[in-house]
Amino acid sequence: MTRKIVFATNNAHKLEEIRAILGEDFQVLGLSDIGCNEDIPETADTLEGNAEIKARYVKEHYGYDCFADDTGLEVEALDGAPGVYSARYAGPGHDSAANVALLMKNLAGESNRNARFRTVIALVEGDRLTLVDGVVKGRIIDELRGDNGFGYDPVFVPEGYDMTFAEMDSKEKNSISHRARATAKLKDILVS
Ligand code: IMP
Repeated sequence: MTRKIVFATNNAHKLEEIRAILGEDFQVLGLSDIGCNEDIPETADTLEGNAEIKARYVKEHYGYDCFADDTGLEVEALDGAPGVYSARYAGPGHDSAANVALLMKNLAGESNRNARFRTVIALVEGDRLTLVDGVVKGRIIDELRGDNGFGYDPVFVPEGYDMTFAEMDSKEKNSISHRARATAKLKDILVS
């Protein structure tokens, strides 16, 4: 039987990707599919906290089992920043270009360029909360390279590669990305 589950997102691309990964045994609904048009507040100071808030919100208000994700870029020399604040590093209302520019500024002259992307997925089934994460290690370069992807992709070179994420096509990025790794763990839990 097909199992209904909500992914707490309105991002059509993320929904399409997860539906392809989970296959026909799951009917994955997005927030708009269940009539949830609220802006769920992401008020936690960790990726785990924000993912949990979103998944629990849907369970409590709409009754569906639900999973939610949150992603951050964690830079070693900046004590893990921008981390949970990655989307709004340069302040509210600023775009990715401003976030990347601030990152470049804060890393100017810094020789430790180690960084990682981390995606956390919170799954709420009934009363049970399960957290998984997916990590890709890499380094931040001091120029922007490539036009693909989004966010910090033009300055992030994954370990074992010379290309930035923005120089890879989506298939290559998705085969090693933080999100893909977290999603694979989610799938293992859902199908077991
Ligand atoms: P979200 O939790 O998926 O919305 O991601 C939060 C923020 O992290 C985004 O707004 C981006 O700035 C950054 N981010 C997340 N995933 C990626 C990625 O794959 N490449 C580059 N930046 C990302």
